[in-house]
Amino acid sequence: MAAPNLSRMAFRSSKLLARPSHLLSAQLLMQMQSPSPLTRKMSVDAHSVASQLNSSGLLRTQGLIGGKWSDAYDGKTIKVYNPATGESIVDIACMGGRETNDAISAAYDAYRSWSKTTAAERSKFLRKWYDLLMVHKEELAQLITLEQGKPLKESIGEINYGAGFIEFAAEEAKRIYGDIIPAPLSDRRLFVLKQPVGVVGAITPWNFPLAMITRKVGPALACGCTVVIKPSELTPLTALAAAELSIQAGIPAGVVNVVMGNAPDIGDALIASPQVRKITFTGSTAVGKKLMAGSAETVKKVSLELGGNAPCIVFDDADLDVAVKGTLAAKFRNSGQTCVCANRIIVQEGIYEKFANALRDAVQNMKVGDGFSEGVAQGPLINEAAVKKVETLIHDATSKGAKVILGGKRHSLGFTFYEPTVISDVNSEMRISREEAFGPVAPLLRFKTEEDAIRIANDTNAGLGSYIFTNSIQRSWRVAEALEYGLVGVNEGVISTEVAPFGGYKQSGLGREGSKYGMDEYLEIKYVCLGNMNKE
Ligand code: SIN
Repeated sequence: MAAPNLSRMAFRSSKLLARPSHLLSAQLLMQMQSPSPLTRKMSVDAHSVASQLNSSGLLRTQGLIGGKWSDAYDGKTIKVYNPATGESIVDIACMGGRETNDAISAAYDAYRSWSKTTAAERSKFLRKWYDLLMVHKEELAQLITLEQGKPLKESIGEINYGAGFIEFAAEEAKRIYGDIIPAPLSDRRLFVLKQPVGVVGAITPWNFPLAMITRKVGPALACGCTVVIKPSELTPLTALAAAELSIQAGIPAGVVNVVMGNAPDIGDALIASPQVRKITFTGSTAVGKKLMAGSAETVKKVSLELGGNAPCIVFDDADLDVAVKGTLAAKFRNSGQTCVCANRIIVQEGIYEKFANALRDAVQNMKVGDGFSEGVAQGPLINEAAVKKVETLIHDATSKGAKVILGGKRHSLGFTFYEPTVISDVNSEMRISREEAFGPVAPLLRFKTEEDAIRIANDTNAGLGSYIFTNSIQRSWRVAEALEYGLVGVNEGVISTEVAPFGGYKQSGLGREGSKYGMDEYLEIKYVCLGNMNKE
């Protein structure tokens, strides 16, 4: 196949791509609504991307154990696919328990010296890593689009966002303060020290192949921990490229290890090892519960970022334009494949029809296609199972009275492309209101009063992302306080940033990632009491 060359100059000269802000919304909306001149130059094919990455040394296929790239010990490999074409990109090492145990040992050995480095030294390593991630932003973004499918501009947004966690951790490393507590007795002195928790097992999903890793590994390393990363076997290439850049940044061997392949075996080894003192996981609620139960055996510290069922509440008094733009971003980011994507759009009866029509018109304008093609706002879903889930939920809803007002079927492009969909007349009994669709479907529910909206929104075991659209300051405070969610966007559809705490209430998880709060997840608190102070 003839391969049009990727326009590197176009990337380099773009002010948009160089913008420092890691808040994603403006960039995302631009990409969803108006293809810029830049995107018109973006058409490339997967083969040329893979060969460019190969020549730059960023296309890695082996795991990283103790600073050495390694095949699976039994030589097994698995394929990584491009979801936009169904073609295999490359074969990677398919590792399991033995490789994981060696990675844990390497991390344990490296911990002895890494945990003794000064905060300033760790900060410099992290800063270097951040700089390299930014230098290689374009290639890393291409890798994300290649293995995950999201539009290239969204991938570039993810690099800014993901690298931002490393930059933030580099800064925050120097602010891990302890305390001096006023002593109850005059001959005592009481101190609180914060110390690294130890070796961390980081298990990450496919929907953000870089950002879900960096928001775990950045703070872990800043605190003095070492890590064994298990990226999703669907999207390991970005993780491996980031690990390669950690080596180039001079981060010592064994501090960052990566094993991938046989997920249950790797997970079991991480859970069983008494040397692993912390598990951090982003993924499904079902797997999170298993990891939490398994961690009890060795009493590990656990952070979990699990599934959501995000309500997006549009009140009669909302600005229609703001509500539509915000909902579009909250729902269709990454083709609906994020834990904070709006899963239920709960609209007050007075604005319902107007909002439904305006949302349908906006969604209709979104171009679906290969993430490397110009103007594309929606890529493919990650795999066939993801499409089947969307189909099942839509079928269940329509069989119970919901109406498809846009889309509602596989896209003519084939593979795992699905038409951006809006369905109306959804109610809380339908499966689509109770399960995370993780796809490009916007289900509209109707409500009468503010109390109804809060009740419907909180009627779920999940509690991660939520959104409110209203022009009333009083209502925005009242509803934000009443929502049983870890994140609330008010008149804003994309609120993720490395400087704010990300995490859920109820069964959406434990702990927080990002911000100063995310650092605590990798620290032990040690109390030291100094006695007999008055004795000469
Ligand atoms: C997720 O889907 O788990 C993360 C989404 C985000 O960071 O905004």
